[in-house]
Amino acid sequence: MSTEPRRLLPLLSSHRPGRSAVTCEYRCGNACAHPAPNTSDNTYFGDVAKSVLSRRGALKATAVMSATAAGFAALSGTAAAEVPAALAGRGNGHGKPSRPVPGTDFTPVAPNTADAVVIPDGYDQEVVIRWGDPVLPGAPRFDHRNQTAAAQAMQFGYNNDFVGLIPQDSSGWRHLMVVNHEYTTETHMFPAGTYDPNNPTEEQVRIAWAAHGMSVVQTVRDPQGGLKVVPSRYNRRITMDTEFEVRGPAAGSDLLKTSADPSGRVVLGTQNNCAGGVTPWGTVLSGEENFNQYFANADAVTDPVEAERLRRYGFKAGASRRKWERFDKRWDLGQEPNEANRFGWVVEIDPNDPNSTPIKHTALGRFKHEGANIKITKDGRVAVYSGDDERFDYIYKFVSNGRYKPGRSAHARRHNSRLLDDGTLYVAKFTGDSPANEIDGSGRLPSDGEFDGTGTWIPLASGNVSHVPGMTAEEVYVFTRLAADKVGATKMDRPEDIEANPVNGRVYAALTNNSDRGKAGKAAADEANPRNGNRNGHVLEWEEHRGDAASTTFAWRLLLVCGDPAEADTYFGGFDKSKVSPISCPDNVAFDSHGNLWISTDGNALGSNDGLFAVPVEGPNRGQVKQFLTVPIGAEACGPVITDDVVLVAVQHPGEGGTAENPESHWPDGGAAQPRPSIVAVWKKGKWGRSGRIGS
Ligand code: FEO
Ligand code: CA
Ligand code: CA
Repeated sequence: MSTEPRRLLPLLSSHRPGRSAVTCEYRCGNACAHPAPNTSDNTYFGDVAKSVLSRRGALKATAVMSATAAGFAALSGTAAAEVPAALAGRGNGHGKPSRPVPGTDFTPVAPNTADAVVIPDGYDQEVVIRWGDPVLPGAPRFDHRNQTAAAQAMQFGYNNDFVGLIPQDSSGWRHLMVVNHEYTTETHMFPAGTYDPNNPTEEQVRIAWAAHGMSVVQTVRDPQGGLKVVPSRYNRRITMDTEFEVRGPAAGSDLLKTSADPSGRVVLGTQNNCAGGVTPWGTVLSGEENFNQYFANADAVTDPVEAERLRRYGFKAGASRRKWERFDKRWDLGQEPNEANRFGWVVEIDPNDPNSTPIKHTALGRFKHEGANIKITKDGRVAVYSGDDERFDYIYKFVSNGRYKPGRSAHARRHNSRLLDDGTLYVAKFTGDSPANEIDGSGRLPSDGEFDGTGTWIPLASGNVSHVPGMTAEEVYVFTRLAADKVGATKMDRPEDIEANPVNGRVYAALTNNSDRGKAGKAAADEANPRNGNRNGHVLEWEEHRGDAASTTFAWRLLLVCGDPAEADTYFGGFDKSKVSPISCPDNVAFDSHGNLWISTDGNALGSNDGLFAVPVEGPNRGQVKQFLTVPIGAEACGPVITDDVVLVAVQHPGEGGTAENPESHWPDGGAAQPRPSIVAVWKKGKWGRSGRIGS
């Protein structure tokens, strides 16, 4: 392991920091260029939530402690006994760095702007599958100049994001790989001069419908390393035409009924699927994120209540960017206002049953779900964590009523999936433990040496019972953002992927950035979001009370305050900042088998390409961020999957800063080729199993 200082900035000055304008436009409908839709003044928690919580005796003591903004240090007596203290002032990397930490023993790659996937010395890489490669039998060869909707529906979709790898045998030889196709960038998908954004052809729109959704492919180990996609009965495409069953407490609600589906229980398609998670029963959860951008004519909805609901989710007046409404009226809010309510859910697909109908789970709430990850509670129930990726939006948890049945049999899969239909949906409130005057928005650490404190899970609805005054349970599930506004949830800096560490049990959340934090009229820095104008994001860590995912209180602290380690406003878990890789805009999180946290980034604001990083979270090396790879020009690093043998990363939107005529990237095919979003496998040189494990 290299321990020399990594003073690698400044980088190439010609590279534009942050996301390209094209990516912002097509991925999230320019969400960051519009005013953040959370304009609520949700500070009256004491009035509303206390009365809600007082009806729930078990919650009362700890909830009110946090509701009254008692800092961690102030907690004492019986209440303190119920407040988790596990994170207070221990475990930070202030000690002497140890020898290489298993899982992170590689020489970090330097920040760079290469048009390549750059990996550490001693590792190899290979593209596993790229946009347009065959998935279903009979899929035609990818022909960029002559693409059709029928071909695309049988081929790997566009802009791969989440990757789930589900073992199919105990030897680790065969897997089902499940991938999200978050969005399409039509200006780059079609050959130069053939796509008019103002007048797309119907076939071009249908190609985009087929390029969205998800893919399931069977993989086997490549004896030379990496993974190979093989023909299989499991191979499957989910597109905008795939039928989904709506389940949970809002299924069949009037709010979900349309002229095409008077039942409110059957939806065609899933869209803008960002991150996700593999469930303990071997299915995949996937988050519908920036769904608002696909709908037109929000201004045609004039009822003030309905108009406010649309505004809070970011729906816009006039034509949509992709003009889908010209070819299917369901994308026109003036004609089908409820169609919008049928997106923004967590969906579940069962890759082991290629004939299964995928599910939209309404009990998990409707918002811009980044992803969804499960932790089993101490009494065997299921907790699901999910972030709402928007500036000033919230972190949520769902806890089931029923208990998990271990195993991956068809029976267990059916039983466990049903758990997600019945439980309680909560939203998080974070309370800092340092005096308010020490949280000045600069990122300067408070005098107790940490951004930390306690938190409360505020219940929003349980089954058909609403805990939010003035809203029915159905309204809580369908308009979850408005429910959370009313109970004093903490406005966060774009909460993205959230996942529990299988080794230490703590939960980790990536908060990408929020340049609006502290602006006039906006929420100012607080201890959980401690920087105004936050360009580089941070990583939050919490421990549920007694380590139980069913708890309604927790203790938290920031693991990383990201950015250039030379800058005073950054924090790397207390580790020596001269010996870490710069990291900016954390997005997806994953863990290796040692419990190290792996983070992929989106929108590096330091002048380097995005990448994948590993960081120990325990012991003297806690906070020692090391960059494992960088992705090509214009791309975002997604996925990721970290096994002992292989790392998978989804390279999303390579070259998107350029144009179809003049791509900024030619990855992965090189020469003058069009860039193609692809999944890449990275492994230690030599054949698997003979040359050692990732980072060891
Ligand atoms: Fe699709 Fe929140 O990134
Ligand atoms: Ca503190
Ligand atoms: Ca993401």
